[in-house]
Amino acid sequence: MRELMLIGVGQMGQPYLAAARRLGLRVHAIETAGRAADLASQVEHVTVTHGEGDEAWAAAAAAAAAACPPDGVVAFSESQVLGAALVADELGLPGPSLRTAVLSRNKALQRGRFAAAGIRQPEYLIAPDLAAAASWADERFPVVVKSLSSAGSVGVELAADRHAYDDAVGRRSGESPLLVEAAVDGPEYSWEALVRDGTVWTSNITAKETTGPPQFVETAHRTAWPLSEAATWAVDELGTAVLAALGMRSGIAHVEFRLADAGPTLMEVAVRTPGDFLMDLLGLTYEVDWFEMVVRLAMSLPLPPPPDRATAYAAGHFPLAEPGVVTAIEGLDAVRAHPAVVRAGVLAEVGDVLAPVVSSLQRRAYVLLAAPDPGTLDDGLSFARQTLTIRTRHP
Ligand SMILES: Nc1ncnc2c1ncn2[C@@H]1O[C@H](COP(=O)(O)OP(=O)(O)OP(=O)(O)O)[C@@H](O)[C@H]1O
Ligand SMILES: [Mg+2]
Repeated sequence: MRELMLIGVGQMGQPYLAAARRLGLRVHAIETAGRAADLASQVEHVTVTHGEGDEAWAAAAAAAAAACPPDGVVAFSESQVLGAALVADELGLPGPSLRTAVLSRNKALQRGRFAAAGIRQPEYLIAPDLAAAASWADERFPVVVKSLSSAGSVGVELAADRHAYDDAVGRRSGESPLLVEAAVDGPEYSWEALVRDGTVWTSNITAKETTGPPQFVETAHRTAWPLSEAATWAVDELGTAVLAALGMRSGIAHVEFRLADAGPTLMEVAVRTPGDFLMDLLGLTYEVDWFEMVVRLAMSLPLPPPPDRATAYAAGHFPLAEPGVVTAIEGLDAVRAHPAVVRAGVLAEVGDVLAPVVSSLQRRAYVLLAAPDPGTLDDGLSFARQTLTIRTRHP
């Protein structure tokens, strides 16, 4: 029986396990000690990582591969991408490629590579510290400040003017280096693609809503977004140019961009499972299990014919609460009963203290919806927006 190495499973990676089972594969999971016990009964082997940074995941994956070489490897999230790429490179297994993994893991490396490839992206400066970039920023406000290797909008903030910038300089004096970018204006989207041997098997455009400046925390996603034909063409062109510049071979790519007046402009690219239940939303949209397709790509298994169109429209809605002590959670049952709602949940309880939301990791509720047409989806989405509420009071 052939074996899949799955680096990081958690809760959100469970569909990878289900896909491996359906495909008759053994699974070697790499997990933290806290999660390993739960997994033991579900997989053939578990190797425990002694840390959650890129290096710790890579060390655990290398040890696991040395003891038990897998036939394919899948990374779940950002900090597991390098470990998977190293194993794939060493054993000659399919994967995004080591170059792709390294570039994708660092926003400043991406900028340098994509500048050389002529890809439309914000003007940027890699600053040893923010004070050193003040005169560069003066010429370009508003600017976005971000750390090089984080995710979930952690450490991303917009400085509208010199006053806000100086404030960031004060708060972030210990961080070095930082990326400072001209802020690009325009609605935000992502392009998800499943890729085999450098060729796109299928792709999708997702529209996003965020909290906007200063932190841009994502609050909604809508799959199969119908851009105009010309814009769709330009987005596909951006996506394939990004893949070519990365040297992407096989796996999933998640390209984030804004549709600026000048055309689609790259925010960043990742080559791992996109968050916010996007894989589930894509499954609902195209009647194809994207988790299974990622496993098939990793294991060199045949793919079915690609979907020729969306058969449903799907959305994820992530309502935010005001900071404070949770006093009530309202509307969850009503939202779950709505015909367009597929799943909904709240990860907070009365009495919890909620901080202001500055990153996606702090969101406490989700609603996944699907409908046969955009109008019905809109109705479901506005019902969910009006109905599901986490009430708080200031402590
Ligand atoms: N140069 C920019 N111009 C305009 N908006 C930007 C710029 N850079 C970042 N943003 C906004 O901030 C968001 C988060 O930035 P980025 O994707 O680089 O960080 P992240 O931590 O990887 O976030 P996530 O994991 O949520 O994708 C972007 O999705 C976008 O809305
Ligand atoms: Mg991003």
